[in-house]
Amino acid sequence: MRELAGRTAFVTGGASGIGLALGRAFAQAGMKVMLADIEPDALAAALETLREFGPDVRGVRCDVAAAASVEGAARAAFDAFGNVHVVCNNAGVAAAGGIDDISVDNWRWVLDGNLMGVVHGLRSFLPHIGGHGEGGNFVNTASMAGLNSGLGFSPYTASKFAVVGISEALATQLKPFGIGVTVLCPGFVRTRIGESGRNRPERYGPARTPDPASPAGALVAEIARLVQAGLDPSEVAARVLTAICENELYVFTHPEMRDGVEARFAAILAAMDQAAGR
Ligand SMILES: NC(=O)c1ccc[n+]([C@@H]2O[C@H](COP(=O)([O-])OP(=O)(O)OC[C@H]3O[C@@H](n4cnc5c(N)ncnc54)[C@H](O)[C@@H]3O)[C@@H](O)[C@H]2O)c1
Repeated sequence: MRELAGRTAFVTGGASGIGLALGRAFAQAGMKVMLADIEPDALAAALETLREFGPDVRGVRCDVAAAASVEGAARAAFDAFGNVHVVCNNAGVAAAGGIDDISVDNWRWVLDGNLMGVVHGLRSFLPHIGGHGEGGNFVNTASMAGLNSGLGFSPYTASKFAVVGISEALATQLKPFGIGVTVLCPGFVRTRIGESGRNRPERYGPARTPDPASPAGALVAEIARLVQAGLDPSEVAARVLTAICENELYVFTHPEMRDGVEARFAAILAAMDQAAGR
């Protein structure tokens, strides 16, 4: 998709962090924007920061974990702006915990949002974008945690590996139809991801904070420090806009994290060589 101006973007997790930065960047590029988020007050505050763009930027409450909620938000975007061209399946959460204290509720909460949220976004918009024939692009937010398990055994790692996998597969399948797919794999970005529990639905039970003295607590503190020192979300958004225009599959914002990916692939290829030798 080479031209963004005049087109429409739909962004989940649009009330904060990377999603809000994407919304601003799209609006600045002359697009109409629908921000979707589970947190109504934060969404209203986010829209206030984009007031200069007038009625071309709107918001809708949406829980990406629920298929019907995403379908409703998609309908709100069609009603407001007509055809939608760019869909950013970006909403996501991170749960604290480690191998000893990760709960089933945490697994469900993270996978329902980070993985099923992407699936619901794809299901709600694929027939629409395929049908209107004006081209389009899906942007799925994964993470470097989707390429390297360095963050440890966690639903977050599982969800992000899955998002990388389905994005790669979808890119191949949608190419003949002129629909692009981009998978966003950032390292640490200065957002509120470390406070994900702020809008955790009651159905997943209360968020548990690990003992700061435990290994899981130490990992949470270290990640919070890295997020605080992370990249500005506007830099991530700028990279995504370029990727959409250039039809790029992968967006990496932290090339310094290459070593972890190389080490993983080297181990996989070494095991392949070993298999070939047997
Ligand atoms: N910040 C980082 O370091 C980092 C790194 C790699 C990937 N990511 C990914 O970036 C994406 C955006 O996160 P962020 O860092 O901007 O965090 P953030 O907490 O600032 O923003 C996430 C937004 O998603 C919304 N949200 C959460 N659950 C939702 C749901 N069920 N339905 C709808 N909206 C929901 C939140 O209300 C919030 O507005 C996530 O997928 C995250 O995993 C973040």
